[in-house]
Amino acid sequence: MRERATARNAGFKCMKLGGEEEKSRNSIWRRRTYLVISVSVVCILGLLYIINFIFGLVPLFWDDPGSTASLEWTLPGQAKTDITSHLLDITRDVTPIPCHSHNDYWRRVPLYDALRWGCTGVEADVWLFDKELFVGHSTNALTKDRTFRTMYVDPIVRMLDLKNTNTSIATSTSSKNGIFDTVPSQTLVLLVDFKNDGRDIFPYVSQHLEALREKNYLTYFDGKTTHGRAVTVVATGNAPFDMINANSTYRDIFFDAPLASMPDSDSTSIQARGGGQGTVGTLPNSHFDSTNSYYASVDFRRAIGFVWWGTLSSKQLALVRGQIKGAHQRGLKARYWSTPKWPIGLRNRVWRLLVDEGVDYLNGDDLRGMTSLEWGERGL
Ligand SMILES: *[C@@H]1O[C@H](CO)[C@@H](O)[C@H](O)[C@H]1NC(C)=O
Ligand SMILES: *[C@@H]1O[C@H](CO)[C@@H](O)[C@H](O)[C@H]1NC(C)=O
Repeated sequence: MRERATARNAGFKCMKLGGEEEKSRNSIWRRRTYLVISVSVVCILGLLYIINFIFGLVPLFWDDPGSTASLEWTLPGQAKTDITSHLLDITRDVTPIPCHSHNDYWRRVPLYDALRWGCTGVEADVWLFDKELFVGHSTNALTKDRTFRTMYVDPIVRMLDLKNTNTSIATSTSSKNGIFDTVPSQTLVLLVDFKNDGRDIFPYVSQHLEALREKNYLTYFDGKTTHGRAVTVVATGNAPFDMINANSTYRDIFFDAPLASMPDSDSTSIQARGGGQGTVGTLPNSHFDSTNSYYASVDFRRAIGFVWWGTLSSKQLALVRGQIKGAHQRGLKARYWSTPKWPIGLRNRVWRLLVDEGVDYLNGDDLRGMTSLEWGERGL
């Protein structure tokens, strides 16, 4: 009874307030409408996601269940001190595969993990602080002992030295053995992602590569042709194209060219369908070919779009074909990153399709997943 009376009192009060009450009721209605709209949008997106998931799901169950397994590093009975010599010879029986180890420095054993699986490309994100190049995804992940030199340059030099100990003087000026014993001519791509000011970083990267350069381990351009060597350095992120391109008679740092800008039909420009590629020092008419670039890469999600129904649309397929063809016409290696990661069935299907279409490098975090894909005859 009391409650009802209170309610009635409140009601009278409201009536007295008149116009103001109308306004507050309006705002309540507006809020409710917004809520209904947002909930509907979320429901529709959720439904689409579930449908997409179901369509991509089927091969999930056929997948190799161990695809995220990692390598066992210390063999039984092996002393810890052996680890270095053991690691240096890690590629002895490995078949190189054109996959690119994304965020390689996050791995338990950076560089070696990728090489053990046979990946011929590794990526290092570098930051310049206090005249030193640190490796890490973000600034708070940087530590003193994780530098470009200690994590990549020095180990690679040591491995290559080991594989070239018996090279005679006569052949020392020509091509040397690469990292992979089974295919000594296979180059290892060291993708260096310039994280802070690219113009400041460039001379440091160049200087740090001297240990590789002086032993003729670096792929270089001599003003006429590009000579493939054991290691090919590719610069991306904030790497300045104009600085890479500046010297017309000698280059040993190559650009990661924008794949989205090179469909064979020339119908799309960098601006029209940018793919998150670094464009420092590039112009709309910059020409990318094997004299100044190595990879031609793009963010798959941004350049090609979302993969509905577990397969590419004919339009998406045409885009992929045009880009790969355009890259090959320029003598570049096509690479996509940010391809769908999950479900695994969908991820593998997109990888498979890209390989069939002639993509040169798969980019990914799951090394075992990438290397267990059937690469076929053109795998090398
Ligand atoms: C170099 O040659 C020596 C002597 O022939 C041989 O024992 C050694 O295994 C060779 N090293 C390599 C890395 O091939
Ligand atoms: C290009 O690089 C070579 C080798 O480092 C050097 O000798 C030459 O002076 C450079 N040329 C220019 C124009 O910087």
